[in-house]
Amino acid sequence: MGICRLGFLVGFLWFMAMDCMAQSNTHHYNFVLQQAQFTRLCETKTMLTVNGSFPGPTIHARRGDTIYVNVHNEGEYGVTIHWHGVKQPRNPWSDGPENITQCPIQPGKNFTYEVILSNEEGTLWWHAHSDWSRATVHGAIVISPARGTTYPFPAPHAEQTIILGSWFKDDLKAIIDDALAAGSEPAISNSLTINGQPGDLYPCSAAMLNMDPIFQGSGSSIVIWRGTRAGAWTRFSL
Ligand SMILES: *[C@@H]1O[C@H](CO)[C@@H](O)[C@H](O)[C@H]1NC(C)=O
Ligand SMILES: *[C@@H]1O[C@H](CO)[C@@H](O)[C@H](O)[C@H]1NC(C)=O
Ligand SMILES: *[C@@H]1O[C@H](CO)[C@@H](O)[C@H](O)[C@H]1NC(C)=O
Repeated sequence: MGICRLGFLVGFLWFMAMDCMAQSNTHHYNFVLQQAQFTRLCETKTMLTVNGSFPGPTIHARRGDTIYVNVHNEGEYGVTIHWHGVKQPRNPWSDGPENITQCPIQPGKNFTYEVILSNEEGTLWWHAHSDWSRATVHGAIVISPARGTTYPFPAPHAEQTIILGSWFKDDLKAIIDDALAAGSEPAISNSLTINGQPGDLYPCSAAMLNMDPIFQGSGSSIVIWRGTRAGAWTRFSL
């Protein structure tokens, strides 16, 4: 009887230990889809964003975690959000393609996505999945290794997310609506962007990159990206 109880206790502790090791956390984010004004290439436009930022907020999680994102639509038309690269097994209701797995979130409404990470690790991204709204409604999902595990390479001195995008001077919805109505090719972008900036060779452009933390690195791994001509970026290592 005594041995039996001991065996049970050891088994129970082992079970608890395994449970702790496999522990995954949940994260909660609120995304507010809202129009915001931005000035690039000497012109100011109003565009759809998450929380008024371009690119949008970064989601941080660890492998195996679950992320809940309540998306409040304060914009002017229906939008969905897709969690690009997240497999979402048996959870298509939270995958986001408009009119395929869900109806668009209507203006004034909200919808809570359940983003279930399984073996994803590294940097993925989220983006709107309604027409071209993804051009301004997107951001990174940074997934660190699970608790108690390490990177499959030496720990980095600093980390910097680099998000490449396109800048259109005109209203995106108008561009795609016109192209669909006319059956023609949509207009191409006016510049590319890195972390929301077109680069200091474009007129009226602010500091090229919004990425100061990389300069706090080890001193041996500083990288600068420079716009050398329209649409081209060159990597300079110091
Ligand atoms: C977005 O804005 C809302 C409302 O101000 C705020 O509650 C929320 O924390 C913000 N989300 C992010 C990811 O910054
Ligand atoms: C999805 O359905 C809504 C409502 O019928 C419609 O307004 C919208 O254009 C559709 N979206 C796409 C991408 O077809
Ligand atoms: C989110 O939508 C639900 C209805 O689906 C509503 O009851 C709730 O008040 C909304 N929450 C916010 C913060 O808007």
